[in-house]
Amino acid sequence: MDCVPIRLAESRSMPAPAVLPTGSAHAKAILVGEHAAVYGHPAIALPMTPLRTVAEVRHSPGPLRLSSGGRSFPVTQLPHRFASVGVATTAALDFFNLPADDLEVAVRSGIPPQAGLGASAAAAHAIVEAVRAHARLPLDEASRFELVQSAERVAHGNPSGIDAYATRASEPFVFSGGMPAPLLLGAPVWFVVADTGVRASTDEAVAGVRRTVDADPARGSALLARIGDLTRGAVTDLEHGQLTAFGQRMTAAQQILTELGVGHAMIDQLVTAAVGAGAAGAKLTGAGRGGCVIAVATGADRAEVIQSAMTEAGAVAVWAVTVGET
Ligand code: MEV
Repeated sequence: MDCVPIRLAESRSMPAPAVLPTGSAHAKAILVGEHAAVYGHPAIALPMTPLRTVAEVRHSPGPLRLSSGGRSFPVTQLPHRFASVGVATTAALDFFNLPADDLEVAVRSGIPPQAGLGASAAAAHAIVEAVRAHARLPLDEASRFELVQSAERVAHGNPSGIDAYATRASEPFVFSGGMPAPLLLGAPVWFVVADTGVRASTDEAVAGVRRTVDADPARGSALLARIGDLTRGAVTDLEHGQLTAFGQRMTAAQQILTELGVGHAMIDQLVTAAVGAGAAGAKLTGAGRGGCVIAVATGADRAEVIQSAMTEAGAVAVWAVTVGET
Protein backbone atom coordinates (compact mmCIF):
# COMPACT_ATOMS: atom_id res chain seq x y z
CA MET A 1 0.00 0.00 0.00
CA ASP A 2 1.15 3.50 -0.68
CA CYS A 3 1.96 5.54 2.37
CA VAL A 4 -0.28 8.57 2.25
CA PRO A 5 -1.03 10.65 5.34
CA ILE A 6 -4.71 10.39 6.27
CA ARG A 7 -6.62 13.16 8.02
CA LEU A 8 -10.27 14.04 8.11
CA ALA A 9 -10.82 17.03 5.85
CA GLU A 10 -13.16 19.74 7.07
CA SER A 11 -13.63 21.31 3.69
CA ARG A 12 -13.87 19.77 0.22
CA SER A 13 -11.69 22.49 -1.33
CA MET A 14 -8.36 20.87 -1.99
CA PRO A 15 -5.04 22.75 -1.88
CA ALA A 16 -2.56 21.29 -4.40
CA PRO A 17 -0.54 18.57 -2.58
CA ALA A 18 3.28 18.56 -2.66
CA VAL A 19 3.24 14.86 -3.64
CA LEU A 20 0.63 13.74 -6.16
CA PRO A 21 -2.02 11.38 -4.75
CA THR A 22 -1.15 7.91 -5.99
CA GLY A 23 -2.56 4.39 -5.75
CA SER A 24 -1.34 1.04 -7.00
CA ALA A 25 -2.44 -2.59 -7.23
CA HIS A 26 -1.09 -5.77 -8.79
CA ALA A 27 -1.91 -8.64 -11.14
CA LYS A 28 -3.33 -12.01 -10.14
CA ALA A 29 -3.65 -15.53 -11.46
CA ILE A 30 -6.30 -18.11 -10.63
CA LEU A 31 -4.93 -21.56 -9.75
CA VAL A 32 -8.25 -23.33 -10.20
CA GLY A 33 -11.95 -22.47 -10.01
CA GLU A 34 -12.41 -19.65 -12.53
CA HIS A 35 -15.85 -19.44 -14.16
CA ALA A 36 -17.21 -21.84 -11.51
CA ALA A 37 -16.63 -18.98 -9.02
CA VAL A 38 -19.29 -16.94 -10.84
CA TYR A 39 -21.78 -19.70 -9.91
CA GLY A 40 -20.83 -19.77 -6.21
CA HIS A 41 -18.17 -22.51 -6.33
CA PRO A 42 -14.79 -21.99 -4.62
CA ALA A 43 -11.61 -20.88 -6.41
CA ILE A 44 -7.97 -20.29 -5.48
CA ALA A 45 -6.23 -17.00 -6.31
CA LEU A 46 -2.53 -16.14 -6.52
CA PRO A 47 -1.39 -12.50 -6.31
CA MET A 48 1.36 -11.56 -8.80
CA THR A 49 2.76 -8.55 -6.93
CA PRO A 50 5.63 -7.56 -9.28
CA LEU A 51 3.18 -6.78 -12.12
CA ARG A 52 1.62 -3.45 -11.10
CA THR A 53 -0.71 -0.68 -12.18
CA VAL A 54 -0.23 2.82 -10.78
CA ALA A 55 -2.75 5.69 -10.87
CA GLU A 56 -2.12 9.35 -10.08
CA VAL A 57 -4.53 12.25 -9.60
CA ARG A 58 -3.26 15.50 -11.17
CA HIS A 59 -4.55 19.02 -11.53
CA SER A 60 -5.76 19.63 -15.12
CA PRO A 61 -8.02 22.60 -15.98
CA GLY A 62 -11.42 21.66 -17.48
CA PRO A 63 -13.66 18.62 -17.31
CA LEU A 64 -12.40 15.38 -15.71
CA ARG A 65 -9.91 13.50 -17.93
CA LEU A 66 -8.38 10.05 -17.90
CA SER A 67 -5.00 9.31 -19.45
CA SER A 68 -3.23 6.07 -20.21
CA GLY A 69 -0.48 4.96 -22.60
CA GLY A 70 0.28 8.53 -23.71
CA ARG A 71 -3.35 9.30 -24.62
CA SER A 72 -5.78 11.49 -22.69
CA PHE A 73 -9.59 11.55 -22.97
CA PRO A 74 -12.44 13.46 -21.30
CA VAL A 75 -14.13 10.90 -19.06
CA THR A 76 -17.36 11.38 -21.02
CA GLN A 77 -15.65 10.29 -24.28
CA LEU A 78 -13.68 7.22 -23.23
CA PRO A 79 -13.04 4.41 -25.72
CA HIS A 80 -14.95 1.24 -24.76
CA ARG A 81 -11.80 -0.45 -23.37
CA PHE A 82 -11.50 2.29 -20.71
CA ALA A 83 -15.17 2.21 -19.70
CA SER A 84 -14.54 0.35 -16.43
CA VAL A 85 -11.71 2.66 -15.31
CA GLY A 86 -14.01 5.60 -16.10
CA VAL A 87 -16.59 4.07 -13.75
CA ALA A 88 -13.93 3.52 -11.05
CA THR A 89 -12.92 7.18 -11.30
CA THR A 90 -16.39 8.71 -11.20
CA ALA A 91 -17.65 6.28 -8.53
CA ALA A 92 -14.68 7.08 -6.26
CA LEU A 93 -15.04 10.86 -6.74
CA ASP A 94 -18.79 10.57 -6.00
CA PHE A 95 -18.10 8.43 -2.92
CA PHE A 96 -15.85 11.12 -1.45
CA ASN A 97 -18.18 13.86 -2.65
CA LEU A 98 -15.36 15.50 -4.60
CA PRO A 99 -15.82 17.77 -7.64
CA ALA A 100 -14.78 16.06 -10.88
CA ASP A 101 -13.58 19.15 -12.74
CA ASP A 102 -9.96 20.30 -13.02
CA LEU A 103 -8.61 16.80 -12.52
CA GLU A 104 -6.85 14.20 -14.61
CA VAL A 105 -6.43 10.59 -13.47
CA ALA A 106 -3.32 9.12 -15.11
CA VAL A 107 -3.04 5.32 -15.22
CA ARG A 108 0.22 3.46 -15.97
CA SER A 109 -0.21 -0.28 -16.27
CA GLY A 110 2.44 -2.97 -16.31
CA ILE A 111 -0.27 -5.65 -16.52
CA PRO A 112 -1.17 -6.92 -20.00
CA PRO A 113 -4.86 -6.14 -20.65
CA GLN A 114 -7.35 -8.88 -21.56
CA ALA A 115 -4.84 -11.55 -20.56
CA GLY A 116 -6.63 -13.03 -17.54
CA LEU A 117 -4.30 -11.30 -15.06
CA GLY A 118 -6.82 -8.95 -13.44
CA ALA A 119 -5.76 -5.76 -15.28
CA SER A 120 -9.22 -4.17 -14.95
CA ALA A 121 -9.55 -4.83 -11.19
CA ALA A 122 -5.96 -3.66 -10.56
CA ALA A 123 -6.61 -0.42 -12.47
CA ALA A 124 -9.84 0.14 -10.51
CA HIS A 125 -8.03 -0.43 -7.18
CA ALA A 126 -5.20 1.91 -8.16
CA ILE A 127 -7.68 4.64 -9.14
CA VAL A 128 -9.83 4.24 -6.02
CA GLU A 129 -6.72 4.50 -3.83
CA ALA A 130 -5.39 7.54 -5.74
CA VAL A 131 -8.77 9.29 -5.36
CA ARG A 132 -8.86 8.34 -1.67
CA ALA A 133 -5.39 9.87 -1.24
CA HIS A 134 -6.60 12.96 -3.11
CA ALA A 135 -9.58 13.16 -0.70
CA ARG A 136 -7.23 12.58 2.26
CA LEU A 137 -9.90 10.46 3.91
CA PRO A 138 -9.91 6.86 5.17
CA LEU A 139 -11.77 4.16 3.26
CA ASP A 140 -13.05 0.96 4.84
CA GLU A 141 -12.36 -2.33 3.03
CA ALA A 142 -16.04 -3.09 2.29
CA SER A 143 -16.57 0.28 0.55
CA ARG A 144 -13.27 -0.09 -1.33
CA PHE A 145 -14.35 -3.55 -2.54
CA GLU A 146 -17.76 -2.21 -3.62
CA LEU A 147 -16.18 0.67 -5.59
CA VAL A 148 -13.90 -1.77 -7.44
CA GLN A 149 -16.84 -4.12 -8.05
CA SER A 150 -18.85 -1.28 -9.61
CA ALA A 151 -16.06 -0.96 -12.22
CA GLU A 152 -15.73 -4.73 -12.56
CA ARG A 153 -19.43 -5.02 -13.40
CA VAL A 154 -18.65 -2.99 -16.53
CA ALA A 155 -15.55 -5.09 -17.36
CA HIS A 156 -16.96 -8.54 -16.47
CA GLY A 157 -20.75 -8.27 -16.51
CA ASN A 158 -21.16 -10.52 -13.48
CA PRO A 159 -17.92 -10.56 -11.43
CA SER A 160 -17.65 -13.06 -8.60
CA GLY A 161 -15.40 -10.66 -6.66
CA ILE A 162 -12.28 -12.86 -6.77
CA ASP A 163 -10.31 -10.39 -8.93
CA ALA A 164 -11.20 -7.46 -6.66
CA TYR A 165 -9.75 -9.35 -3.67
CA ALA A 166 -6.79 -10.92 -5.50
CA THR A 167 -5.41 -7.68 -6.97
CA ARG A 168 -5.09 -6.27 -3.43
CA ALA A 169 -4.12 -9.47 -1.55
CA SER A 170 -0.53 -10.16 -0.54
CA GLU A 171 -0.90 -13.95 -0.17
CA PRO A 172 -2.69 -16.71 -2.11
CA PHE A 173 -6.21 -17.36 -0.82
CA VAL A 174 -9.25 -19.57 -1.18
CA PHE A 175 -12.29 -17.68 -2.44
CA SER A 176 -15.32 -19.34 -0.89
CA GLY A 177 -18.81 -18.03 -0.19
CA GLY A 178 -17.82 -14.74 -1.85
CA MET A 179 -15.03 -14.13 0.69
CA PRO A 180 -11.26 -14.75 0.80
CA ALA A 181 -9.85 -17.20 3.37
CA PRO A 182 -6.17 -18.04 3.96
CA LEU A 183 -4.69 -20.87 1.87
CA LEU A 184 -2.40 -23.13 3.90
CA LEU A 185 0.66 -24.43 2.06
CA GLY A 186 2.41 -27.59 3.21
CA ALA A 187 5.41 -26.99 0.92
CA PRO A 188 6.71 -24.36 -1.51
CA VAL A 189 5.04 -24.25 -4.92
CA TRP A 190 6.62 -23.03 -8.16
CA PHE A 191 4.34 -21.60 -10.81
CA VAL A 192 5.03 -20.42 -14.34
CA VAL A 193 2.51 -18.04 -15.93
CA ALA A 194 2.79 -17.66 -19.71
CA ASP A 195 0.95 -15.24 -21.97
CA THR A 196 -0.46 -16.70 -25.21
CA GLY A 197 -0.52 -13.16 -26.69
CA VAL A 198 -4.17 -13.76 -27.65
CA ARG A 199 -6.39 -11.02 -26.17
CA ALA A 200 -9.89 -11.98 -25.03
CA SER A 201 -12.65 -10.14 -23.24
CA THR A 202 -13.65 -11.49 -19.82
CA ASP A 203 -17.12 -10.10 -20.37
CA GLU A 204 -17.60 -12.22 -23.51
CA ALA A 205 -16.01 -15.33 -21.98
CA VAL A 206 -18.31 -15.14 -18.92
CA ALA A 207 -21.32 -14.57 -21.21
CA GLY A 208 -20.23 -17.53 -23.40
CA VAL A 209 -20.11 -19.87 -20.39
CA ARG A 210 -23.55 -18.59 -19.36
CA ARG A 211 -24.89 -19.51 -22.83
CA THR A 212 -23.32 -23.00 -22.61
CA VAL A 213 -24.86 -23.57 -19.17
CA ASP A 214 -28.27 -22.22 -20.21
CA ALA A 215 -28.29 -24.42 -23.35
CA ASP A 216 -28.04 -27.58 -21.22
CA PRO A 217 -28.42 -26.68 -17.51
CA ALA A 218 -27.94 -30.24 -16.19
CA ARG A 219 -24.65 -30.71 -18.08
CA GLY A 220 -23.49 -27.14 -17.40
CA SER A 221 -24.15 -27.39 -13.66
CA ALA A 222 -22.40 -30.76 -13.51
CA LEU A 223 -19.30 -29.34 -15.26
CA LEU A 224 -19.17 -26.36 -12.88
CA ALA A 225 -19.70 -28.63 -9.84
CA ARG A 226 -16.77 -30.80 -11.03
CA ILE A 227 -14.56 -27.69 -11.10
CA GLY A 228 -15.78 -26.96 -7.55
CA ASP A 229 -14.77 -30.50 -6.46
CA LEU A 230 -11.36 -30.13 -8.14
CA THR A 231 -10.84 -26.83 -6.28
CA ARG A 232 -11.69 -28.36 -2.89
CA GLY A 233 -9.33 -31.24 -3.68
CA ALA A 234 -6.63 -28.75 -4.74
CA VAL A 235 -6.90 -26.93 -1.40
CA THR A 236 -6.23 -30.24 0.41
CA ASP A 237 -3.35 -31.13 -1.98
CA LEU A 238 -1.67 -27.78 -1.35
CA GLU A 239 -2.14 -28.11 2.41
CA HIS A 240 -0.30 -31.45 2.27
CA GLY A 241 2.33 -30.33 -0.26
CA GLN A 242 1.09 -32.89 -2.81
CA LEU A 243 2.05 -31.04 -5.98
CA THR A 244 1.69 -33.97 -8.38
CA ALA A 245 -1.94 -34.53 -7.34
CA PHE A 246 -2.54 -30.78 -7.43
CA GLY A 247 -1.12 -30.57 -10.98
CA GLN A 248 -3.37 -33.39 -12.13
CA ARG A 249 -6.40 -31.49 -10.84
CA MET A 250 -5.26 -28.38 -12.72
CA THR A 251 -5.05 -30.34 -15.97
CA ALA A 252 -8.46 -31.91 -15.30
CA ALA A 253 -9.93 -28.42 -14.74
CA GLN A 254 -8.45 -27.34 -18.09
CA GLN A 255 -10.40 -30.11 -19.85
CA ILE A 256 -13.65 -28.94 -18.26
CA LEU A 257 -12.97 -25.29 -19.10
CA THR A 258 -12.47 -26.35 -22.74
CA GLU A 259 -15.84 -28.15 -22.60
CA LEU A 260 -17.36 -24.92 -21.27
CA GLY A 261 -16.12 -23.15 -24.41
CA VAL A 262 -13.27 -20.99 -23.06
CA GLY A 263 -10.35 -22.90 -24.58
CA HIS A 264 -8.10 -21.77 -27.44
CA ALA A 265 -5.52 -23.47 -29.68
CA MET A 266 -2.72 -21.35 -28.17
CA ILE A 267 -3.78 -22.35 -24.66
CA ASP A 268 -3.56 -26.02 -25.69
CA GLN A 269 -0.15 -25.41 -27.24
CA LEU A 270 1.27 -23.86 -24.06
CA VAL A 271 -0.36 -26.49 -21.79
CA THR A 272 1.17 -29.27 -23.94
CA ALA A 273 4.59 -27.58 -23.88
CA ALA A 274 4.47 -27.16 -20.08
CA VAL A 275 3.40 -30.74 -19.39
CA GLY A 276 5.95 -32.02 -21.96
CA ALA A 277 8.66 -30.12 -20.05
CA GLY A 278 7.71 -31.81 -16.79
CA ALA A 279 5.00 -29.57 -15.29
CA ALA A 280 2.83 -31.45 -12.79
CA GLY A 281 -0.15 -29.77 -14.49
CA ALA A 282 -1.19 -26.73 -16.50
CA LYS A 283 -4.35 -24.87 -17.43
CA LEU A 284 -5.66 -21.51 -18.56
CA THR A 285 -5.89 -18.87 -15.86
CA GLY A 286 -8.59 -16.20 -15.74
CA ALA A 287 -11.36 -16.00 -18.28
CA GLY A 288 -9.66 -17.98 -21.10
CA ARG A 289 -10.34 -17.88 -24.87
CA GLY A 290 -6.71 -16.69 -24.98
CA GLY A 291 -4.92 -14.85 -22.19
CA CYS A 292 -2.54 -16.75 -19.93
CA VAL A 293 -1.69 -20.32 -18.99
CA ILE A 294 -0.46 -21.32 -15.53
CA ALA A 295 1.75 -24.37 -14.95
CA VAL A 296 2.91 -25.87 -11.66
CA ALA A 297 6.40 -27.27 -11.13
CA THR A 298 7.80 -29.42 -8.33
CA GLY A 299 11.03 -27.41 -8.04
CA ALA A 300 12.81 -24.22 -9.12
CA ASP A 301 15.00 -25.97 -11.75
CA ARG A 302 11.97 -27.64 -13.32
CA ALA A 303 10.16 -24.28 -13.40
CA GLU A 304 13.03 -22.83 -15.46
CA VAL A 305 12.82 -25.70 -17.96
CA ILE A 306 9.04 -25.19 -18.23
CA GLN A 307 9.52 -21.44 -18.71
CA SER A 308 11.88 -22.07 -21.68
CA ALA A 309 9.54 -24.68 -23.18
CA MET A 310 6.55 -22.32 -23.02
CA THR A 311 8.59 -19.51 -24.60
CA GLU A 312 9.67 -21.84 -27.41
CA ALA A 313 6.03 -22.87 -27.88
CA GLY A 314 5.07 -19.23 -28.59
CA ALA A 315 4.43 -17.51 -25.23
CA VAL A 316 4.91 -13.76 -25.65
CA ALA A 317 5.84 -13.31 -21.96
CA VAL A 318 6.49 -15.64 -19.01
CA TRP A 319 6.64 -15.01 -15.26
CA ALA A 320 7.83 -17.28 -12.45
CA VAL A 321 5.92 -17.05 -9.15
CA THR A 322 7.04 -19.00 -6.07
CA VAL A 323 4.95 -19.24 -2.93
CA GLY A 324 5.58 -20.76 0.49
CA GLU A 325 9.40 -20.53 0.35
CA THR A 326 10.98 -19.46 3.64
C1 MEV B 1 -11.77 -13.89 -14.06
O1 MEV B 1 -10.48 -13.59 -13.53
C2 MEV B 1 -12.41 -15.00 -13.26
C3 MEV B 1 -13.80 -15.39 -13.72
O2 MEV B 1 -14.19 -16.50 -12.91
C4 MEV B 1 -14.79 -14.26 -13.56
C5 MEV B 1 -15.11 -13.95 -12.10
O3 MEV B 1 -14.96 -14.81 -11.24
O4 MEV B 1 -15.49 -12.79 -11.86
C6 MEV B 1 -13.79 -15.85 -15.17
